[in-house]
Amino acid sequence: MKTQVLNIDEKSLQIAKEYIANGDVVAFPTETVYGLGANAFNEVAVKKIFEAKGRPSDNPLIVHVADKQAVYGIASEVTDDAVKVMDSLMPGPITIVLKKQSTIPHCVTGGLDTVAIRMPSSDEAQAFLSAVEYPICAPSANTSSRPSPTSWSHVAEDMDGKVPLILKGKDCQVGIESTVLDLSRDVPLILRPGMVTKSEIEFVLGKEVFFPDAIDKSMNSPGIRYKHYAPNCETFLNTDGDLQKIWDFFVENPDAGLIARDKFWGLTPKFFSLGKKAQEGAHNIFSALRDAEKVCDKLLIVWDLKGEEADGVFNRVIKSCGGKII
Ligand code: TXA
Ligand code: MG
Repeated sequence: MKTQVLNIDEKSLQIAKEYIANGDVVAFPTETVYGLGANAFNEVAVKKIFEAKGRPSDNPLIVHVADKQAVYGIASEVTDDAVKVMDSLMPGPITIVLKKQSTIPHCVTGGLDTVAIRMPSSDEAQAFLSAVEYPICAPSANTSSRPSPTSWSHVAEDMDGKVPLILKGKDCQVGIESTVLDLSRDVPLILRPGMVTKSEIEFVLGKEVFFPDAIDKSMNSPGIRYKHYAPNCETFLNTDGDLQKIWDFFVENPDAGLIARDKFWGLTPKFFSLGKKAQEGAHNIFSALRDAEKVCDKLLIVWDLKGEEADGVFNRVIKSCGGKII
């Protein structure tokens, strides 16, 4: 299959609309990461997403909508908490999980009776979703287990020849995927941390919100079971920023790369910056992983920031390194 890469304009949006209507897959930018979209009501189209990514079929997809009204056509029960989150935090980098309507195919939800719904805030994602006129289910547009794509060129690296169209937009501003908030249970649960934090959600809901571990370790989001975000090089993580340990690592591995905040610049020539603050770390992490793997056999990530704004990046880097901590 030949993959077209087109700038987003009226003409390319019309082409995207035709592909989606014909049951094909289109890659598109959002403020978090690029997505691989198909008509959520078309099972044949949805299966093409799983094929293009090499994704296990029991890992459910997020349904993306342009406006709040569309949520009522997808969820069977839009709870009071859901309305609060929709009013205060959507559109934006958050996904809510609600009981699904029977019209949403099981292949979208991995057989679950719930559905994840997201309303992206970026102009480009909004333009795409408005043009295609269907709810669009979309995972991140990377090959399964690879770092998520935050620029059109990352999508092309993984998806060239596998999808007919990549809509070429700006680099993703947030840089890590949306916070996934399960509102289908007795208590609100954050299944995946992101840049919308626990405190922000608690402020909006006026009550406590939990992480699954606090309740039951087996209650994670299905996607959490799989290998994730791994670059093509042996990767280690340090979370305390201990200079002696980091120095020792580079004495032993002088050719290794370093992904870290700017204060660690100068320790080794192959340095990939996570900026200074948590937001910059989120913005840079996936492109740093993809840049580093091109020139490194071994890699050390140092993520020494703590606190809930830093949690999203921590959640990604702990998976990238397969739990190998120094
Ligand atoms: O920012 C994002 O969320 C991006 C962009 C493209 O919107 N999308 C994204 O999709 O990250 P994906 O497929 O890479 O991750 C979706 C996550 C997975 O961890 C999946 O298990 C979880 O959402 N999920 C989807 N439906 C669910 C459901 N019904 N119940 C629990 N978790 C669900
Ligand atoms: Mg993903």
